[in-house]
Amino acid sequence: MRKKVVAGNWKMYKDKSETIELISGLKEKLSKFNSEVEVIICPPFTSIEIAKELLKGSVIHLGAQNMHFEDEGAFTGEISAKMLKSFGVEYVILGHSERRSIFREDDKMINKKVLKAVSVGLKPIFCIGETLEERENNKTFDVIARQLTEGLSSISNEHLNEIIVAYEPVWAIGTGKTATPSQAEEVHKYLRKLIEEKFGRSFAESMRILYGGSVKPDNAKELFSQPNIDGGLIGGACLKADSFYDVINSAV
Ligand code: 13P
Repeated sequence: MRKKVVAGNWKMYKDKSETIELISGLKEKLSKFNSEVEVIICPPFTSIEIAKELLKGSVIHLGAQNMHFEDEGAFTGEISAKMLKSFGVEYVILGHSERRSIFREDDKMINKKVLKAVSVGLKPIFCIGETLEERENNKTFDVIARQLTEGLSSISNEHLNEIIVAYEPVWAIGTGKTATPSQAEEVHKYLRKLIEEKFGRSFAESMRILYGGSVKPDNAKELFSQPNIDGGLIGGACLKADSFYDVINSAV
């Protein structure tokens, strides 16, 4: 049985006092939560330190939203995997479609980041997904197969266990347009088959594949109950304690 995961990607939201408010609210809501669902929050870099402090003794895990693939150097504005690790970060989102489209990250660069992350002990939440144009041109499976193959290229079996895959169709992100449970399940099933072909059956059975894209309290339960959907990567609905908690509860 795969343990379900619900991860919140805060994106570029929440300053320091808003971070304190949201985490306090979540901790209160989750204080009696003893389910098998793994809960992760990924605040912006500026909130990592305070988040780590506030999450002490809580069931919530901490992730970041991006990192550079070098350990250090003249890379103005960047943050390394090693730096994140030194602040007690456990997960890192890599390959998010906003990084791919706005910041021009390609599969090669994302692969370097994935390999660097696992080498320092960070667990990647590795995102893939097609655009609307790609879907309309029947390219969905080709695109996600390429993203998965290139993004996870050269990864060792030892580190493969630490990867969480997130399927986020670009057309469903922040648009209010969710993939239907059967549309999402179709892709997740295909991904699991692909993982089996590439890495073998036991990895395919154990790897968590999350769905992301306009997941809300009112659609989460149906999505999360599909056989190949192991939870979600949540944007908008993770910015309020109430709605994030309701999404988490939909995975129970
Ligand atoms: P929304 O839930 O706001 O659509 O964002 C999804 C997402 O991009 C999570 O990484």
